[in-house]
Amino acid sequence: MEELLKNKMIVLGVSGSIAAYKAADITSQLVKLGADVHVVMTESATRFIAPLTLQTLSRNPVGADLWEEGQGWQPGHIELADRADLLLVAPATANIIACFANGLAPDLLTSIYLATPAPVMIAPAMNGKMLNHPATRQNLKLLRERNHHIIEPDQGLLACGYEGKGKLSSVEKIIAPVVNHFQNLT
Ligand SMILES: Cc1cc2nc3c(=O)[nH]c(=O)nc-3n(C[C@H](O)[C@H](O)[C@H](O)COP(=O)(O)O)c2cc1C
Repeated sequence: MEELLKNKMIVLGVSGSIAAYKAADITSQLVKLGADVHVVMTESATRFIAPLTLQTLSRNPVGADLWEEGQGWQPGHIELADRADLLLVAPATANIIACFANGLAPDLLTSIYLATPAPVMIAPAMNGKMLNHPATRQNLKLLRERNHHIIEPDQGLLACGYEGKGKLSSVEKIIAPVVNHFQNLT
């Protein structure tokens, strides 16, 4: 596989959706493309997929705790936020989208979001009714207005048992805009 993402540092944010297991595949694909992937999980995400899985696949430590700082003098979240070439959040819960939209920073991922000058891509995943709620729609509209790239969720049978829009986009459709973004820069 061509190393299209060589020398690119990607912070992969993973939040507490049933689709969090797909972060393993996303991480693996990004690493195969040469990216330096740093996974940051919310506490809820750690209930869906073990940090050790993402640590092994990304070949980097996984951040999940705002208070567990790195080795250097600089707060860990600021260091990651400064170094990131891209913040990709997949899957993004209704909650994380609401935090981003409203500038709330209660944890490591939301603090990195506020602190990073890097471009942001967000792949929502949730129940169709949550996605269609005026609050979520308003939050996503706000994030689009900030020029964040929203990777549209797919239509299909959702884990909650309903049929509709809200399924995390396919891994291919998440990786493609990432590669396009960096190719357009060169
Ligand atoms: C089994 C299960 C599946 C869930 N799946 C989703 C989901 O796909 N999308 C979503 O927005 N919330 C989902 N939730 C709710 C979130 O986990 C919850 O809102 C949590 O507070 C999100 O925290 P985070 O945004 O910090 O990760 C799910 C909860 C459970 C128990």
